[in-house]
Amino acid sequence: MTTKPAINLWSSSDHAAEYLSRAESVPHRTEGESALLEFIPPSTRRILDLGTGDGRLLALVKGELSERLRSEGTSPRVEAVAVDFSPAMLEAAARRFAGDPSVTIKIHNLDYPLPDLGKFDAVVSCFAIHHVTHERKRALYAEIYSLLNPGGVFCNLEHVASPTERLHDEMLSHLDKTPETEDPSNKLLDVETQLQWLQEIGFADVDCHWKWREFALLAGRVGAS
Ligand SMILES: C[S@@+](CC[C@H](N)C(=O)[O-])C[C@H]1O[C@@H](n2cnc3c(N)ncnc32)[C@H](O)[C@@H]1O
Repeated sequence: MTTKPAINLWSSSDHAAEYLSRAESVPHRTEGESALLEFIPPSTRRILDLGTGDGRLLALVKGELSERLRSEGTSPRVEAVAVDFSPAMLEAAARRFAGDPSVTIKIHNLDYPLPDLGKFDAVVSCFAIHHVTHERKRALYAEIYSLLNPGGVFCNLEHVASPTERLHDEMLSHLDKTPETEDPSNKLLDVETQLQWLQEIGFADVDCHWKWREFALLAGRVGAS
């Protein structure tokens, strides 16, 4: 398995702005996001979002949980930690969650081990972890496992590798990219390897629950102890 060099352009504010300008129009993402919401346990009270960007996914997860809790007539506080390393993204997330003291925004580069963030019932991520090297992806998955409470879930809506170059080129064209304009920060890895890693680490119920071309929802659960 070869890992591309660790180029990562996401700390540039231009890179962040370019993505945010087209984030709404990323094809099929809302299907993947809806699938992800199904796997957030109703008992979730603490969420971590890795590579949060402007907090889009975290806002969806918090909104869904609040909706469920309201319909049950309960309103326990749901806390969240949003992690990213891009100053522009962190500013956008801070704007989105301004006035919401339940969200803590942390600067951290996922190339390095996660700081002590406490324990979580759900760790989510969307289109972010494929920017770290394959070696770091596996190590990060193990760190995520260790900070989940029993019964907690890891839901990674991810950009994964295609099995063939032709399929990859087709995906690029769906994203209005070419091999020349593809983001050099991408370090795409196939679904199978990532599912195998999650299983080896100890996650239960590991599966790819949704997929459209190179977008996939990979998830696993920490068994109750
Ligand atoms: C494609 S955007 C996705 C943002 C958001 N999760 C969403 O769904 O819209 C990728 C995000 O990953 C973040 N990211 C990339 N590499 C990172 C790293 N090494 N450490 C922390 N964040 C990183 C970027 O700054 C960016 O916010």
